[in-house]
Amino acid sequence: MAEAKRKRFLSGVQPSGKLHVGNYFGAIQQHIALQDEGEAFYFIADYHALTTLGDAVKADADLAKDQKRKARTAPEILRENVRDVALDYLALGLDPNKATFYRQSDLPQVTELAWILGTVTGMGLLERAHSYKDKVAKGISPSVGLFTYPVLMAADILIVRSHEVPVGKDQVQHLEMTRDMAGSFNATYGNIFPEPKERHGVAAIVPGTDGQKMSKSYGNAIEIFAEGKALKKSVMGIVTDSTPAEAPKDPDTRTPFTLYKLLATQTEVEELAARYRAGGLGDGTVKQMLLEKIDAFFGPFRERRKQLAADPAYVEDVLRDGARRARAEAEKTMELVRAATGFPRRPV
Ligand code: ADP
Ligand code: TRP
Repeated sequence: MAEAKRKRFLSGVQPSGKLHVGNYFGAIQQHIALQDEGEAFYFIADYHALTTLGDAVKADADLAKDQKRKARTAPEILRENVRDVALDYLALGLDPNKATFYRQSDLPQVTELAWILGTVTGMGLLERAHSYKDKVAKGISPSVGLFTYPVLMAADILIVRSHEVPVGKDQVQHLEMTRDMAGSFNATYGNIFPEPKERHGVAAIVPGTDGQKMSKSYGNAIEIFAEGKALKKSVMGIVTDSTPAEAPKDPDTRTPFTLYKLLATQTEVEELAARYRAGGLGDGTVKQMLLEKIDAFFGPFRERRKQLAADPAYVEDVLRDGARRARAEAEKTMELVRAATGFPRRPV
C-alpha cells in the first residue's frame, strides 16, 4: 500500500506510575495489534506527567521517611518513570521497527502547536472537561497546565495528523475536544488536520480492586509486572460483598469475574458464570483462578522485561531513533501550519 494511504494511529501514555491490567486491556493490547495495521506512533507523555510530578515528589518524600531512605528528586522520579513505561511497552510487544516510539518532550513542535491550538479553543470547552473537574473535586489545586492539558493532548494527536487514537473510554471527551480544536483551526486557516477518531480496546473500563475504574492514582491497581507476594496481595484484596459462598450469585456483579473474563476463553467464562449462578462458588476461589490466569498471561512478558532492563542503552537508543522519525513528521505538519497561519518558513 502506498505510504500516504496507510491509516495513522497515535496514542500516548503518561509516565506516572506502574502500568496496570486496565491500561493493558483498555489500551496497550490494541496499540501492539495496530502496529501491523497502519503507521503507528506511540509516545511517553512526559510533559503531561509534569502536571502531577510535584505530588509524586511529595508522596515519595513521605514514603522515604517511613522506609528510612533518601527521597528521590523530581528528575530522578521522572526519568525512572519514563524508563519504566518504555521497558513495559517494549516487553509487551511494541516493536520499534514497526511503530515510532518516542518521548513527547523530544518533539518541540508539540508545544509550538499547542500554543496555536490554544488560540482557537474556547475557555468553555476546557471548563467542561471531566478529567479536570474530577481532579479539582478530589482536592487537587489546579495549575494552568492541568487546565490546558487537553490542548497539549490535541497537539500530540494533530502534530502527526493521525486518523485514529486507540485509548480507553475515559479519554473520549479528550478526543471530542481534539476534533473541536481541529475543526476550529481548519475553519479559520484551511483544511490541515483530519478530525481524529477514538478507537477502543476489548475492555470498556476495567474495574480495580475496589470495583471503581482501575487507575494508577486510586490505589486500586493490579500491576502488569507485579509478581509473587505483591501480585497475590492485590488480587486477593479485591473487594467483594459478604454474600456467602453457598448463595447463587449474578456473575456480572462480581469484580473477580469481570477481571477473569478478560483473560479466559469463552468456554471457561461460561462455565464459571454457570457455577456462580448455581451457588456454591465463593469469590475467593475465583480470585485464586484469576491469579493463575494473570501469572500465565503476563509471566512471559515479565521475563522479557527483565532481559530488556539489563541493557539500559537499548531503551535510550529506541527512544532517540523514534524521536528522530517523529520529529520529521511533526516538522512537516508545522510547515503546513506556518504556511496556513502566515508565519514564515522556519529558517534552517
Ligand atoms: P491511569 O488512569 O491509571 O493513570 P492513564 O490515564 O495513564 O491511566 O491511561 C493510559 C491508557 O490506559 C489510556 O488510554 C486509558 O484510556 C487506558 N486506561 C486507563 N485506565 C483504564 C481502565 N481502568 N480501563 C480501561 N482503560 C484504561
Ligand atoms: N491523556 C492520556 C491519558 O491520561 C495520555 C495522553 C496524552 C494521550 N496525550 C495523548 C493519549 C494523546 C492519546 C493521545 O491516558
